[in-house]
Amino acid sequence: MNMITMKKNDYEELLALWSGFPGNTMTGADSIEDFEKFLGRNTDYCFTAFENGSLIGSVMAGNDGRRGYIYHLAVDESIQGKGTGKKLMDAAENALRDAGIEKAHLFIYTDNTAIEFYEKTGWHRRNDIVVMSKVLIGDKYMGTRMEE
Ligand SMILES: CC(C)(COP(=O)(O)OP(=O)(O)OC[C@H]1O[C@@H](n2cnc3c(N)ncnc32)[C@H](O)[C@@H]1OP(=O)(O)O)[C@@H](O)C(=O)NCCC(=O)NCCS
Repeated sequence: MNMITMKKNDYEELLALWSGFPGNTMTGADSIEDFEKFLGRNTDYCFTAFENGSLIGSVMAGNDGRRGYIYHLAVDESIQGKGTGKKLMDAAENALRDAGIEKAHLFIYTDNTAIEFYEKTGWHRRNDIVVMSKVLIGDKYMGTRMEE
């Protein structure tokens, strides 16, 4: 497995990876325009993992100067459980740390078993916060799962 910073031309392979997980929500923010915008602003914090030339893992971390945010951590099912997810997260966390970011957050559905992965890798669940969202530009999937 080799890991490098994410490139704009990874988009198609990333979409295929992300779309493969049941219950995963793809939104307007996953359009190529928004993907490129995010990557342009957060070039140093987004990583991809490759195995035999194929993209098998991703993490998109971002930094607004105050806090870090983690999106789209994913590892192809065929290679899960071999430490790739942890390596991707270590890379993203180290990059944010190097930028002086003290704390990072992520959003995850309450029934996603990846919560256990995060707990094992040093993240803690917050019970004192409710996430609130507001649609600012029409995005019919925001706040609801695609299949609902
Ligand atoms: C979450 C995910 C990225 C983990 O990737 P991975 O490469 O399998 O994880 P690792 O092999 O690095 O696992 C690190 C540790 O977490 C544990 N772990 C990983 N997934 C787990 C799960 N679903 N439940 C419990 N423990 C888990 C591993 O056993 C390992 O523990 P160990 O160090 O004691 O052996 C992967 O399961 C995935 O892509 N899930 C679907 C996408 C998703 O839901 N992403 C999160 C969106 S917020």
